[in-house]
Amino acid sequence: MYKIMDGKLVSASVKDRIRAEVKELNSNGHQVNLAVIIVGDDPASRVYVNNKKKACEYVGFVSEEYALPVSTSQEELLTLIGELNERRDVNGILCQLPLPPHIDDAAIIAAIAVEKDVDAFSAHNVGKIMIGDYDFVPCTPAGVMKLLSFYDIDVDGKNCVMIGRSNIVGKPMAMLMMHKNGTVTIAHSHTRNLKEITRRADIVVVAVRKVRFLTADMVKEGAVVIDVGMNRDENGKLCGDVDFDSVKEKCSYITPVPGGVGPMTIAMLMQNTLKAFYIQNP
Ligand code: GUN
Repeated sequence: MYKIMDGKLVSASVKDRIRAEVKELNSNGHQVNLAVIIVGDDPASRVYVNNKKKACEYVGFVSEEYALPVSTSQEELLTLIGELNERRDVNGILCQLPLPPHIDDAAIIAAIAVEKDVDAFSAHNVGKIMIGDYDFVPCTPAGVMKLLSFYDIDVDGKNCVMIGRSNIVGKPMAMLMMHKNGTVTIAHSHTRNLKEITRRADIVVVAVRKVRFLTADMVKEGAVVIDVGMNRDENGKLCGDVDFDSVKEKCSYITPVPGGVGPMTIAMLMQNTLKAFYIQNP
């Protein structure tokens, strides 16, 4: 019998703890401020940014939104980031990706001050994750680790398979599971015999942006399956990278979409922003 890993429940407990801490900070005259930048009008990005702002409001952060037109130049965006870097009252800076094609994501990420890089996307923060000495962890992998620990799922010695090798999810996720002594395999679009690899996995994390990519025949009995996907199926219904209805029957634990990893990502953003405040105000 499978158990659902409830991201709404776990994220609510994280946000409630942060909310209590922020209340205390506010009563001592402090404010925690996250600047959120969105360029253009990508509907998915707009939904993500709205959810991030809602979470800020819930935990008691100030959230400044910079909604810039798609015509914004790279120089204009760099100027804004430079100003936000300089402001002592801004603790975190988040620039929603993807950016329009005429803007170089890497240049923008590199411009954000490392102590305000609450996404942990910069080379500095990524490097710190590699060596296992980090302040910020990218929000989605951090959220997955939190779900695993909440449900007492020990990674030590387990066969962990990460499907997907993005900088935002796959690579840092693999590192975090390795730091917890998992035996980690990173699979990707060139991997041969994927099914053979995933069928040996105790823990499978999928982040490939493909509707119902992971099917029941790819999963071993009793596995833990974490779905990072957020897709629309042929009927416009929200679904993940896992064929939930068939895969769940083989799992010990599984995350739903929606209501699994998604809410955790936002809770971890709140956690990183609070951490940024403490780093800047020791
Ligand atoms: N686009 C998709 N996921 C993310 C994220 O976690 N942070 C930012 N900044 N952009 C994203």
